[in-house]
Amino acid sequence: MSRDRWTKVDRYVTEHLVGDDPALAAALQANAASGLPAIDVSPPQGKLLYLLARIHGARKILEVGTLGGYSTIWLARALPTDGRLVTLELDPHHAEVARGNVARAGLAGLVDLRVGPALQSLEEIARERLGPFDVSFIDADKANTPEYVARAIDLSRPGSVIVADNVVRDGALVDAHTDSPSVRGNRRLHDLLAADPRVDATTIQTVGSKGYDGFTIALVERV
Ligand code: SAH
Ligand code: DHB
Ligand code: MG
Repeated sequence: MSRDRWTKVDRYVTEHLVGDDPALAAALQANAASGLPAIDVSPPQGKLLYLLARIHGARKILEVGTLGGYSTIWLARALPTDGRLVTLELDPHHAEVARGNVARAGLAGLVDLRVGPALQSLEEIARERLGPFDVSFIDADKANTPEYVARAIDLSRPGSVIVADNVVRDGALVDAHTDSPSVRGNRRLHDLLAADPRVDATTIQTVGSKGYDGFTIALVERV
């Protein structure tokens, strides 16, 4: 099985179940025109995030790692009109592109984009008591994924769901002696989740247009 075939299946699923989406297409176009890396979630993955947030009836969503706001748009669309999505981005250029994309999608009123290192922004969010968040999506620098998940747990309520992206990375997750900070981060994530009695979690391997990877999904049972 090849990436070519995984991409064709993603295209098939997208054509059948995701459909044409001018706002999302415009966002990807603006990202490319502005030189952003094409590492957004795929359309079927974006739709999964949207469905999860809808299934959950989420009113408050936290995202760590905005890029051009492609996943932000998917998640914000699941919110009610009085909902809120707080998204954190380190790179001011990414953030500027994302603001444009979110505004063009008609979602500016729901989205609070904060520029800076996510660990700092997360401290502010805790101080401002913006939580608890119903759904958190962690998709920034993978070396810090466990720290972001730990803070997302602190900003949760019983029943909150946390999703972390890019956890499997071509199977590198099982390389115990790796020097890769990303893989070490993803392994620490599993140690943290295994040791935390407040959460229950699993990791799902995926293939698709972005290759072989996977995501972790955690339910916060108590805080
Ligand atoms: N969630 C996006 C993709 C995010 S890519 C989508 O699917 O559409 C990862 C993003 O995390 C990049 O934009 C990168 O600049 C940002 N990032 C990296 N380190 C960060 C940090 N310390 N704090 C906040 N954002 C960070
Ligand atoms: C990378 C980051 C992502 O969030 C992703 O989904 C794919 C790749 C990266 O940094 O390479
Ligand atoms: Mg990602």
